[in-house]
Amino acid sequence: MAPRKIIIDTDPGQDDAVAILLALASPEDVDLLGITAVAGNVPLPLTQKNARIVCELAGYTDTKVFAGCDAPLARKLVTAEHVHGKTGLDGPQMDDPTMPLQDEHGVDFIIETLRREPAGTVTICPIGPLTNIATAFQRAPDIIARVQEIVLMGGAYFEVGNITPSAEFNIYVDPEAAKLVFGAGVPLTMMPLDVTHKALTTRPRIDAFRSMGTKVGDMVAAWTDFFERFDMEKYGSEGAPLHDPCTIAYLINPDLFQGRHINVEVETGSDLTLGMTVADWWRVTDRPANAVFMKDINAEGFYALLAERLARL
Ligand code: BDR
Ligand code: CA
Repeated sequence: MAPRKIIIDTDPGQDDAVAILLALASPEDVDLLGITAVAGNVPLPLTQKNARIVCELAGYTDTKVFAGCDAPLARKLVTAEHVHGKTGLDGPQMDDPTMPLQDEHGVDFIIETLRREPAGTVTICPIGPLTNIATAFQRAPDIIARVQEIVLMGGAYFEVGNITPSAEFNIYVDPEAAKLVFGAGVPLTMMPLDVTHKALTTRPRIDAFRSMGTKVGDMVAAWTDFFERFDMEKYGSEGAPLHDPCTIAYLINPDLFQGRHINVEVETGSDLTLGMTVADWWRVTDRPANAVFMKDINAEGFYALLAERLARL
């Protein structure tokens, strides 16, 4: 089968970085058309720079990286330096990238790509707030029917929230954008915290990265070490969830995940539950199914895939 054409929409973030590396390492499965950066974990000047740092680390300096939106549709940006550090990619000191940022705006790239490629052949993988995708859909509604699938990291239900008691970070930062995307009618698969909190780093899993003896392996181990400290303290868990690579792993091997095709609505009206993804897991409403809500992951298989693929870089 030909590799699936994808656009990664991202706010790196150490776990975003691992998702990008997994895609770059898997050309037989995914054809990365471009990376669009969005404001999220840290402001846009840092996320676009971090995306280039990651490509350069892997030696993929001709990957197209675009800067997209610098603020949510209707709200002030909320960031997550408390998790990812001041740069968004804290851990070992990294040099500034030398590869260029594309001149085109990320939203224009998304629109043009979907209009240029045959309908139904481009998958979008958002692993940050959904601002760029919603903006593209608002500006160019004709592209909506051309999207093959959206495979995103975001949301939570049984696992409740991580940035508020009821909301997951990516959805919370731009709930209006998320509402628009979830309501667009595009086939959508989501990796909520219910999945990603089962994809925890452990000492042997981090050691597997370090023992690759490569620049990428060392860096991924160092990033995950950094990233871990926050979740271990917060949840008392053995390690940290590698959220964002779940999206790319799904494209490579969907059998690693299990979920249900159900209705998921995004709350935008309540202060208390703003950004909550209300998932009708038990199908108690007659609202139409609009998302595959993943709930389980084969974590061993996921980490084995990561170790196998990242060792190639
Ligand atoms: C999501 O928020 C970000 O901090 C991570 O990169 C991930 O995309 C998890 O809630
Ligand atoms: Ca992210």
